[in-house]
Amino acid sequence: MCGIIGIASNKPVSINIINSLKKLEYRGYDSAGIATLANNLINEKKCSGRVKELEKILFKTPSDGIVGIGHVRWATHGIPNTINAHPHSSDDVSVVHNGIIENSDELKEQLESKGFRFKSETDTEVITLLVTEYLKQFEPLESVFKTLKKLKGSFALGIIFKNYSDIIIGARRGSPLAVGYSNQENYLGSDSYALKSMTNKISYLDDGELCILSKNNVDFFDLNLKKINKKIHTVSDEENTSNKGDYKNFMYKEIFEQSSTAKKCINEYIDSLKKDINIYNFPFDPNKINKIILIGCGTAFHSCLVAKYWFEELTSIDVEIDIASEFRYRTLKFNSKNLYIFVSQSGETADTAAALEICRENKMKTCSVVNVVESTIARNSDWVLPIHAGPEIGVASTKAFLGQLLVLYILCLKLSSIRKDILKKDYDKNIETLKKLPEAIKKTLKSESDIQLMAQEFLKARGSMFLGRGISFPIALEGALKLKELSYLHAEGYPAGEMKHGPLALIEEGLPVIVIAPKDKYFEKTLSNTQEVIARGGKIFFITDIKKRLMSTNIRFRLRVPFLDNLLSPILFTIPLQLLAYHVALLKNCDIDKPRNLAKSVTVE
Ligand code: F6R
Repeated sequence: MCGIIGIASNKPVSINIINSLKKLEYRGYDSAGIATLANNLINEKKCSGRVKELEKILFKTPSDGIVGIGHVRWATHGIPNTINAHPHSSDDVSVVHNGIIENSDELKEQLESKGFRFKSETDTEVITLLVTEYLKQFEPLESVFKTLKKLKGSFALGIIFKNYSDIIIGARRGSPLAVGYSNQENYLGSDSYALKSMTNKISYLDDGELCILSKNNVDFFDLNLKKINKKIHTVSDEENTSNKGDYKNFMYKEIFEQSSTAKKCINEYIDSLKKDINIYNFPFDPNKINKIILIGCGTAFHSCLVAKYWFEELTSIDVEIDIASEFRYRTLKFNSKNLYIFVSQSGETADTAAALEICRENKMKTCSVVNVVESTIARNSDWVLPIHAGPEIGVASTKAFLGQLLVLYILCLKLSSIRKDILKKDYDKNIETLKKLPEAIKKTLKSESDIQLMAQEFLKARGSMFLGRGISFPIALEGALKLKELSYLHAEGYPAGEMKHGPLALIEEGLPVIVIAPKDKYFEKTLSNTQEVIARGGKIFFITDIKKRLMSTNIRFRLRVPFLDNLLSPILFTIPLQLLAYHVALLKNCDIDKPRNLAKSVTVE
């Protein structure tokens, strides 16, 4: 989390730093700051809250300078206030940092014993003071290099120096960092997205690397401070997503984009002429895979959970799923016949990236399903399957979840066909059904007005439950996650069959319970579980794809989604749950694109 920008130019940089910080706010938005070099001084301005507050400060007292750094924060060490906001500056050095310095307490003690005084509660300030101390004897690059040797933990850094007013030094260990190039101007950024309005020529630092940039030049160094060359990538021109158009916010726009997201993804992967899935470039023999392990965090983990049901249903491959933050610390048995699939919208999630690294160290086959193809996870995996969802700005993942599901489903179908686990006629039929999905999504989105009515009923609720069985269980988890993160209402997702083993005790008169009930092999069982909840006073919101009216009159609300196919029901049933979370949050006046305490790209563990 946290966003970093640095610009070395031949013209004033503060306006472009602010504009880039606005783009980086999805990485953190509890405080913001900027430091520029002007009149032989470090000119630091910062505030708690959003970049627009910082912009107001700069409007009143502009910051000059043709070299500068900026930061948006997601607090780790120290509460989100102005003092703890980055940059952290001494008289000689100013630092922006993304990551966590794990030995900061120890370093702080050492520095205090030498007479240094700390202003903030952050771990970052130790970096500022260490570099300041080394600068008494060494040049900037060596001072930073010596400082890095003392740090434990993860970081991406941008550093400027009062007495070297034309340079910025960047360094990376664990947290992503990119360099952008332009005419008479070079940039440092947490990701290419922040730099896209200024350049599409990007290099990415790898772990342990440093760079030193000025307006006309960029040099890179490896972890032994040996000069190295880096590849320059031309990043794709995505659609202009910084524009919400007529939509109230990005999340709403992204929910409604899902029909075209699906269409785009299907067009990318389905060859309509050959009526086949055009995934050919397997870097391994699909017939020799014994086990697939799907790994992700949060919503991405939920897509792994749905995919497990698909792989079990359609292939002869054994499947496991894991939450990346758990996987990375487990004692694992690696096997060369395993395929590890990492699912991540951003491709920068620290836990997922670390889990991938462990698999690479153990020489495992790795594949990533990502939205950002220039990301760390994509670059570090053997094989990348992009979801083609376009940039997702709303912190709560919606269209990327749909894209992840689609790509995993398509991969599953393709593997089952290569391995002859599926009959040709079923394979063809599944592809034909898939092509109908964008239209079915469009229809599902039309239920918005009903969902607005449902949302009213959540306003006075003290909590809520989401129930599903089989492939609908992960969708219950996803519905609950969306509601809690957007509206701050407690929501629990549960397999409906588990209710009587404990959670039924939570049911009280009027508690909203959302039941996800496609007409599949679980339907009757789900109905029985629903009756058990009704008998205890739960207020039922029943989402189904059957046409027939249900006998029970005690269902408060019934919503019907179109029926396509049981395998694709998770995709269609997710949409009303996204809209429900959205409308409850809207009624509660919550910040929809930037829910409290969260960030879009979780680059700390
Ligand atoms: C929830 C949400 C998060 C992310 C999770 C992983 O709406 O967006 O749970 O899914 O932080 O992020 P990525 O997919 O970028 O690895």
